[in-house]
Amino acid sequence: MSNKKAWANAIAQPATEFPLTPLSVIYGKIPAGLRGSLYRNSPGRLERGGIKVGHWFDGDGAILAVNFTDDGATGVYRYVQTAGYQAETAKGKLIYGNYGMTARGAFWNRWLKPVKNAANTSVLALPDKLLALWEGGKPHALDLQTLSTWGLDDLEGLSKGQAYSAHPKIDEQTGDIFNFGISIGKNPQVNIYRSDATGKIVQTGAFPLTNVPLIHDFVLAGQYLVFFIPPVELNILPVILGFSCYCDSLKWKPQLGTQIVVIDRETLSVVSRSQAEPWFQWHFANGYVDEGGTLVVDMARYEDLQTNQFLKEVPTGVTHTPAKSNLSRVQLNPQTGRFMGIETILDRNCDFPSVPPQNVGQNSRHTYLSISRPGTDISQEILNAIACFDHENGTLMETDLGENLYPSEPIYVRDAHNHQQGWILTVVYDGNTHCSQVWVFDSQGLDQEPICKLTLPEVIPHSFHGTWKAA
Ligand SMILES: [Fe+2]
Repeated sequence: MSNKKAWANAIAQPATEFPLTPLSVIYGKIPAGLRGSLYRNSPGRLERGGIKVGHWFDGDGAILAVNFTDDGATGVYRYVQTAGYQAETAKGKLIYGNYGMTARGAFWNRWLKPVKNAANTSVLALPDKLLALWEGGKPHALDLQTLSTWGLDDLEGLSKGQAYSAHPKIDEQTGDIFNFGISIGKNPQVNIYRSDATGKIVQTGAFPLTNVPLIHDFVLAGQYLVFFIPPVELNILPVILGFSCYCDSLKWKPQLGTQIVVIDRETLSVVSRSQAEPWFQWHFANGYVDEGGTLVVDMARYEDLQTNQFLKEVPTGVTHTPAKSNLSRVQLNPQTGRFMGIETILDRNCDFPSVPPQNVGQNSRHTYLSISRPGTDISQEILNAIACFDHENGTLMETDLGENLYPSEPIYVRDAHNHQQGWILTVVYDGNTHCSQVWVFDSQGLDQEPICKLTLPEVIPHSFHGTWKAA
């Protein structure tokens, strides 16, 4: 089609796995203090048997690992061997329903059919295993080195049917890992989990929901966990009956406003509940409590749910729905729930905001994020730059990679020798040469040439989330 953009070529074909392979440095030098592994997860396969999936979120998860060692870098790329992936591989066709598609076949075959756990959203690196995360179900455990799939993992605490979302929050000071999962059904609720540093769930909590909303991420802010429930309501019955998928059963209901639930991180019980104006967010950058006791939360904010339509269009290779976001800041009193307002702090289309891992839950001077280059038609292009926002002086430092280059979500890595030094890792799809590379930037030099570029043996599809595990 005439308006097909270069990004579409990275996902036009199912991604090709590769075994552990030495990676060539094609530019610069790997920093001596960069030792460990980058892991990234993405939908690697968006069609089977000539049929496209219904939404970007439906693709089968595939994991990229890039290892930085004293002897150079290596990479490996493997699909997560979920039960659904194996069954569909054996049949050579799509079988299951998912977020954006119903199960295949006549409608009486779709009733009460389980959806496929796509294991495609993010990764959590634990001391002895890697988890591939998907918010509708349990995580899959994988071998940290080979990426071979061991199977579903309950973290010694997830009961039958309990989900573990794709956005755990790690407190580096205590080793605590917080996460949540939504239980749908007659009495929908948000389950909250605290794990120790091994991933083992050691404490649980819950709060009830009045409907089934769309909660993708949450916030760790000082002594609180904070949930922002957007005014989205799932009409559950057609989904259970197999007539409709989740995506098509979500209704934008701005009259509900945004519900805010503040949880005490020690007791996992509700501190306050309140309501604010309607907006939508997939992702939070961070949260903290300032000296005056005010809870501050930054996020990539959308006006409504149109972003979901844009993401639904991605697997077709051509998008046309604009869904502008910006970086916004919310302030509220965590004890009373009094909402003190939301303001735009950076009016640029953006998502995947984050802070250096050591700053999670605390005030962070810098927020890293993916953005659109100036002049980009956001109805037709996916995010095509990465940037660093400096909260102290309000400035933005951004990459300029040129036309048809698409960097993934920026991952901050603290240098092993100099903790004041950070590196930003991103996997870049070069649409001009149809190849993928790993680029390393100085965390304070995103507007300069990267420190190092490594070539990957195969094209890596655009990915959602990743993590770093220090050696
Ligand atoms: Fe996400």
